[in-house]
Amino acid sequence: MKLWGGRFTKPTNELVDDYTASISFDQKLATYDILGSLAHVNMLASAGIIEADERDTIVDGLKKVEALIKTNKDVLTKENEDIHMNVEKLLIDEIGPVGGKLHTGRSRNDQIALDMRLYLRDQVVSLVELLTTLQTALLNQAKAHTDTILPGYTHLQRAQPVLFAHHLLSYVFMFQRDAERLMDSFKRINKSPLGAGALASTSFPIDRHFVKDELNFYGITENSLDSVSDRDFVVEFLSDASLVMMHLSRFSEELVQWSSQEFNFIELDDAFCTGSSMMPQKKNPDVPELVRGKTGRVYGHLMGILTTLKGLPLAYNKDMQEDKEGMFDTVETLIGALSLFSPMVETMTVNKEVMYDAVAKDYSNATDLADYLVTKGLPFREAHAVVGEAVLSCIDNHKYLLDLTLAEFKQFSEVIEEDIFEVLDPMAVVNARKAHGGTAKESVEWQFGEAENYLSDT
Ligand code: ARG
Repeated sequence: MKLWGGRFTKPTNELVDDYTASISFDQKLATYDILGSLAHVNMLASAGIIEADERDTIVDGLKKVEALIKTNKDVLTKENEDIHMNVEKLLIDEIGPVGGKLHTGRSRNDQIALDMRLYLRDQVVSLVELLTTLQTALLNQAKAHTDTILPGYTHLQRAQPVLFAHHLLSYVFMFQRDAERLMDSFKRINKSPLGAGALASTSFPIDRHFVKDELNFYGITENSLDSVSDRDFVVEFLSDASLVMMHLSRFSEELVQWSSQEFNFIELDDAFCTGSSMMPQKKNPDVPELVRGKTGRVYGHLMGILTTLKGLPLAYNKDMQEDKEGMFDTVETLIGALSLFSPMVETMTVNKEVMYDAVAKDYSNATDLADYLVTKGLPFREAHAVVGEAVLSCIDNHKYLLDLTLAEFKQFSEVIEEDIFEVLDPMAVVNARKAHGGTAKESVEWQFGEAENYLSDT
């Protein structure tokens, strides 16, 4: 007999049980469901809705049910549909009819909204910790590379040299914003919806603040319809998670490129690569590739929940049961990616000389020649044209700018003097960009300070 079987004359069709049950996935919420029930039952007793001895029996029973589920998942059945009814059924089996008092003044609708918030609250904290660990790994690598220069790109064409530390720091700040977004979402997640009932609250004299305090929520949700029908906190989480994955995916793409033979800028540690079943020479960057690939499923979950919620009338609709799998999968995908990224970044080898060579055998100091001409009085647009000709002539003669003699330089512009050789040196080119946020060593040092301030605040 179903817990709600009273008004039915037949058992549920088995296919309906299969189709509507969520226990195969919402069992992940068991601990949170029981936590919420413990708070609820304590409140019921404190408000005088049930007796103290009934509360004690139910509390003991819930703890036994929790242990039972932990040791044997088979006690959970699809006939009992979801985690809420499974727990209630197991409780009644354990302590008898008094277990039926637990659900007084409560609906599965406010119960699931509570469970999801309790779950997500914990996950957000863990994810922020994982982001901090990754930021620290990036920061450590950056500090080891304050005089490693690599070509900076636009359009994937070499543009201007930058410090490798500067490049890594850019990700530190991206992940900082990701962490801040998650922490900000915490404010909205961390409110208790319990007491909203099915949709209109309850006629029992419940105390929502009691439950809020028991479960360490910042506050309570303000409107019962809103409490049970919105999942914007899930959408927000998935959107924050999508941005984390977007950043990880871009970084992944760079790691894949950099570890190719064509770039050869870095080597990922053997422990973070895999081989080929056929080609013995292969060492594949599977981890960043898979992170890049898994970004798709996280975006998919975001689109999925937005589409599920679109057009749903208030309040609860069974459609909303679809809110969970994408959320769980997103949490697991992020934990997997972030847990691997930190040690992978920490252990990668940086081929400093190859990077330097890529900068030296290149025209990425051309802007500096133009800027030099500007300091000698030429309008920038004219300087740009002069340097364009110099570069073209170098390309024709298989030379780089620093291969030119002073006499050759002077053919392009009389104002060029001996000091040009210092100006065009790759490290000088980098260190000329001293503005706050620039790639010069002194600006990079300043960024370290900013990053560390952020990390000590997180
Ligand atoms: N398993 C349901 C869900 O995840 C719980 C809420 C069900 N409420 C209901 N009235 N059927 O959405």
